[in-house]
Amino acid sequence: TAAQKGGYPHFMIKEIYEQPETIRSTILPRIKNKHIPDFTADGIPDTVFEGVNRIVIAACGTAMHAGLVGKVMLEKLLRIPVSVEIASEFRYQEPIIDKNTLVITISQSGETADTLAALNLAKEYQGTTLSIVNVKGSSIARSSDYVLYTHAGPEIAVASTKAYTAQLSCLYLLAFRFALVKRTITEEECVNYMEQLQAVVPAIEETLKFDKKIEEICKNLKEKEDLFFIGRGLDYALSCEGSIKLKEISYIHSEAYAAGELKHGTLSLVTDGIPVIALATQDSVFSKMISNIREVRARNAFVILVTNGEKEVDESIYDYHIALPELEDSLAPFTAAIVLQLLAYHTSVHRELNVDQPRNLAKSVTVE
Ligand code: G6P
Repeated sequence: TAAQKGGYPHFMIKEIYEQPETIRSTILPRIKNKHIPDFTADGIPDTVFEGVNRIVIAACGTAMHAGLVGKVMLEKLLRIPVSVEIASEFRYQEPIIDKNTLVITISQSGETADTLAALNLAKEYQGTTLSIVNVKGSSIARSSDYVLYTHAGPEIAVASTKAYTAQLSCLYLLAFRFALVKRTITEEECVNYMEQLQAVVPAIEETLKFDKKIEEICKNLKEKEDLFFIGRGLDYALSCEGSIKLKEISYIHSEAYAAGELKHGTLSLVTDGIPVIALATQDSVFSKMISNIREVRARNAFVILVTNGEKEVDESIYDYHIALPELEDSLAPFTAAIVLQLLAYHTSVHRELNVDQPRNLAKSVTVE
């Protein structure tokens, strides 16, 4: 009903705007003395992390995409291998899991059948299971050895937004604590990371101010049939989420591509006017990204460039530029995610579609 939407026209946009609050609620209760993440109240002792030599993340849809970002952070900080598995694939394989494997399942509803099956399989193979779940007491929460709840509150729109950034928050907290226990980061570095993580909240508030500009940009997307999201590293992981979001609710075909891989195939599809959403938030690959953008620009792509902070960029390579409030590069997925959510939302609205309940999709898929 209108009242539940709190004055917003759709649940999705209401939930997008709730993110500063939902991220704060997810992070703050886990901060103990001197900005160290602490899971005592969650019942997750440090012994869980000791002896772990491999991490497997299993999930579906948006939750799986959160895992892709989590993998980059966990590997960066822990220096142990992390694989991200599509739960519906994983459950029918013979997984390589043993007692030293930490299996992280991620789910908003906690009821996704494929994710639950992946979790049960992990238990059969003696893995330690930890779930990142939004719904209290849900099946996945109940079946896991440990649960780290996202405090996103009820998410109504089928397209997941606030649950995704809350999942990212939990994955980052987990990476920081785990790395501290493993001594791959110092306490000082951990405090620094935690300060950066908290800086995400005001940065998202700033990012939401691009709403009007993004609505304008989306007028250029509504008639399109195909588009591309490109990025490297964390930006590529995030592109996967941007692409599914747009597909789900605007019904426009899109693809997420690792920018360096374009030349191995996809460039043949980049023709006059094809929109390319180029995420260039990572300093370490910034100049590489700019070269990739030049490649698509040379084929007359319509380029929407997203950078972390104001960057000096040759104006001829883009049509629109969104300069996000500057964050430490590893935190940029949070602000960039907001832009991608708004892009999907406004494109769907311009196309006059059912934003909150797209055709053929369900909020929670409890069948195989
Ligand atoms: C459905 C929803 C997606 C969601 C996926 C996983 O397909 O439409 O938005 O990402 O399920 O759901 P979960 O509840 O496990 O996060």
